[in-house]
Amino acid sequence: MKVIKACLGVFIAVTLIGSVFASNGSVHLEKVNNSLCDKASLQRGAALYMNYCAGCHSLQFVRYKDMAKDIGIVDKNGNVLEKLVNDNLNFTSDKANDPIVVATPKTLSSKWFGVPPPDLSLVARSRGKDWLYSYLKGFYEDPKRPWGVNNIVFPDVGMPHILLALQGTQVPVYKTITVQDEQGKYLEKQVISHLELKTPGTLSPEAYDKAMVDLVNFLDYVGEPHKLERKRLGVWVLLFLVVFTLFAYLLKREYWKDVH
Ligand code: HEC
Repeated sequence: MKVIKACLGVFIAVTLIGSVFASNGSVHLEKVNNSLCDKASLQRGAALYMNYCAGCHSLQFVRYKDMAKDIGIVDKNGNVLEKLVNDNLNFTSDKANDPIVVATPKTLSSKWFGVPPPDLSLVARSRGKDWLYSYLKGFYEDPKRPWGVNNIVFPDVGMPHILLALQGTQVPVYKTITVQDEQGKYLEKQVISHLELKTPGTLSPEAYDKAMVDLVNFLDYVGEPHKLERKRLGVWVLLFLVVFTLFAYLLKREYWKDVH
């Protein structure tokens, strides 16, 4: 019931105030339609994260237990199902109350990848959801790069394509555009128009997209665990302001009626 109310709240808030979406301007970002109210999606996203990303990327502001509670891994009384969390989401020797950190020292990972894999606690906020979704779908074959892949929204990325087996191999399809150089001369330039699947992975493209929506949904939740609560409260604040304005107006009319 609480969840339905919160979802309704979010919907009204979005309808009332509208929302602003971040985009990085130069590359076309694919829009992601995720829902923080969808606990099953958050749980699938968490499972994907713990299996494929947590080996390199920490989530230092999140504790296993708080995460489990927020995404609904609880019994009827709201207590976290710790065994379920430890068997399916925590592959380290850390306790349920510990934050999600990586065991690999940064010096080693810097040596392997050139840069250490950053903490992803706030990545959904710093980069934006659409950027993340496009990033996770945007790896393509590039033999010139150390890991044999590049990324359409993150040129020369230092991360290998961890989900290659699921997605399969993509190759770029180029188009020619005309650009003006500093002297005003027109030049033809080859840019990537879109990516095409060369070798299929274990997931169909639709299933891969759906999995990435879940993963982005999870990172969106991680970036702001209290977003739902905040939006739910926001609706009440707005409603209060509307009602208050009405009363203030009626009061003003009452006070001024004898003045004229
Ligand atoms: C083998 C280690 C490794 C794994 C596993 C891995 N990454 Fe990365 N990731 C990196 C490295 C290294 C970088 C830094 C790349 C750079 O700056 O060029 C990175 C960068 C990123 C970035 C860009 C962050 C930013 O704002 O610059 C995102 C987002 C990201 N990874 C998401 C993921 C997700 C989601 C997964 C799981 C599906 C994952 N990564 C799995 C190594 C890894």
